[in-house]
Order: sequence, then C-alpha cells, then structure tokens
Amino acid sequence: ASTTATSVSIAGDISSQLHSGYSHPLARSWQAERQLTKSMLIYPLFISDQDDEEVLIPSLPNQHRRGINKIVPFVESLIHKGLRSVILFGVPLRPGTKDALGTAADDPEGPVIRTIQMLRQRFPHLYIVTDVCLCEYTSHGHCGILRDDGSLNNQLSVDRISDVAVAYARAGAHCVAPSDMNDGRIRAIKLKLIEEGIAHSVTLMSYAAKFSGCLYGPFRDAAGSVPSFGDRKCYQLPPGGRGLARRAIVRDINEGADVIMVKPAGQYLDIISDAKELGRDLPIAAYQVSGEFAMIHAGAKAGVFDLRAMAFESTEGILRAGATIVVSYFTPEFLDWLD
Ligand code: PBG
Ligand code: ZN
Repeated sequence: ASTTATSVSIAGDISSQLHSGYSHPLARSWQAERQLTKSMLIYPLFISDQDDEEVLIPSLPNQHRRGINKIVPFVESLIHKGLRSVILFGVPLRPGTKDALGTAADDPEGPVIRTIQMLRQRFPHLYIVTDVCLCEYTSHGHCGILRDDGSLNNQLSVDRISDVAVAYARAGAHCVAPSDMNDGRIRAIKLKLIEEGIAHSVTLMSYAAKFSGCLYGPFRDAAGSVPSFGDRKCYQLPPGGRGLARRAIVRDINEGADVIMVKPAGQYLDIISDAKELGRDLPIAAYQVSGEFAMIHAGAKAGVFDLRAMAFESTEGILRAGATIVVSYFTPEFLDWLD
C-alpha cells in the first residue's frame, strides 16, 4: 500500500511540472500551433484618385492615402522587406464621382483598376487582393444599391457587386474580397467568374463574418465612406450574433468561397475559432480593423503597454484562435520586426 501511495504522489509531482516545456525561448515558440510569418500578412492600401497625393490619415496612425504615383515607390520599399500581399481600397475624392449606383467602383480609369494593372506589371510576385464594395463610391455611403425606403435592394446590389468583382479580376487581381454583406454575393461572383472563364485563377475571399460596431471609424475617415443616413446594422452582423456568424460562414463556404474572413478580429476570437472549425478545410483570414489598430496606438501612447509588444500579442491571439491570414495595418512594422 505504501508503494502505491508513493507512486501516486510522484505522478502527482511530475504532472505538476510545466515550466520545463517552456524555459527556453525556442521551446516557448514551439508551444504555438502557428507562428507569425511575413507570408501571413496582407497590408491595406488606400488609393485616391489624386495621382500625386500622399496624405496622412489623422485617425489611422502612420497610414496614408496615396495616389497611384506615390504607391509604386512605397510598395517597392515594403517588397524589399518581404511584403507578399496588399488589399486595395479605392478613395474617390474628385467631386461628382459618387452616385446612387456606385458607378465609379469599376471605372477602368479609376484608381483601383489602374493600380491593379500597374502593381501586376511592376511587382509580378506581389499578391493583389481587392476589397469589393460600393460604399466608397455611393452618394449615400451604403454598401449596395438602395430601395426607396433606404434599405438595400439585394438583387440589384448583388448584380452590381459581382460585376465590380469581375472587373477587378479581369484587371489582374489575384483575389477579390467582397465586404458588402449582401446575401448571395459569393455565389453570384463565383458564377460570373466561371462564366468569364477566370474562376480557376481568382481567389474568392469572403468577409463572411463581418460585424457592425464602432471599430470601423478611422477606416471610414480614410475612405470617405461614412453613411449619409442610418447605419449598417441591417446587413453587418450584430456583435452578439455568434449563431448568425456561423450560418454566414457555412453559407459562404457552400456558395464557393475559397477563404473565409472574420472581422473585426480581437473582439471576435471565438468567431475565428468557429470559422476554423466550420471551415477546417480552408484558410481563415482575420482583419485587425482600423479601430483596433488605433486603440493599440492610443494605449501605447498613454503608456499602458509597449506598441510592439501589443502588436505581437494581439496578432498572436488571432493566430491562436485559428487564423492563418491576417489583414494588418502593422504589416510594415512586422516586416522589420520579423527579421
Ligand atoms: C467596406 C469596408 C470597411 C472595412 C473594410 N471594407 C468599412 C465598413 O464596412 O464600414 C473596414 C476596415 C477597417 O476598419 O479597417 N465595406
Ligand atoms: Zn461597404
């Protein structure tokens, strides 16, 4: 009986020993299922129709709105540090560009299409994602075409958004990422890509679980896409809607999405984990949005934490939850820090 007691107490002691597994920095890194690498990062670029412009966005620290002529040297410097991918957002500033249908979204002379073509030509190894939405181009600032009562006309919106996605793909985008949240857009885009004969070479990344809330403010400043009335609560998901997010994720997988995105990231780690479970056979992306980025900067400035430490900690949390792709405004810093 005494031998049994001894072995039980030794086993108890042994199972209490955890420090041994992470006393060395390398062993600590082995504790993570996924480690941040440069190829996981997608960097957002805001491209205005003022070709020579380079303007700091006040609410989005260190981020600029650039015209096409300022984009090339900037992107080149990042590519030298290991940048692999960008996501493009168009910002039409010229008066009279916006209308009820978001006509300028796929203007062949507009900033996004010209930038896709130019980046493809100048940087053949850069993977180009384009955000697909109408809110930057509509006079009312909503993410689609409206009925008279101000609600989204789903059919018209999906028809229009799929046309825009095809235009970006035809211009050379490797990936189209609809962020509008209209029902059925993934299927509509996939069918049009098939019809065009380009579906095999264009990745379709769905902003499937995109929540409404207060974290997109700096982006809307940057992109000039604040709705002129109302809000986006009838199409972006309610923050408490975990079940709804799961349904949106399953639906978009079934409609042909190649990648599922969750957005924002830090407040929605459970949703990232759900996406990984529901979409275990596809890559999961997470967008650390403008408000999260601005908060981290504000916290660091207030002396709450070190900027770099929090940039890593927040991003590692996103990876731990299940993402392997991160859209991040910290990308330029990570390209330095990951060396
Ligand atoms: C456009 C779009 C938005 C973001 C990405 N695509 C804004 C919005 O939905 O209002 C937000 C990105 C960010 O805040 O960094 N639909
Ligand atoms: Zn939008």
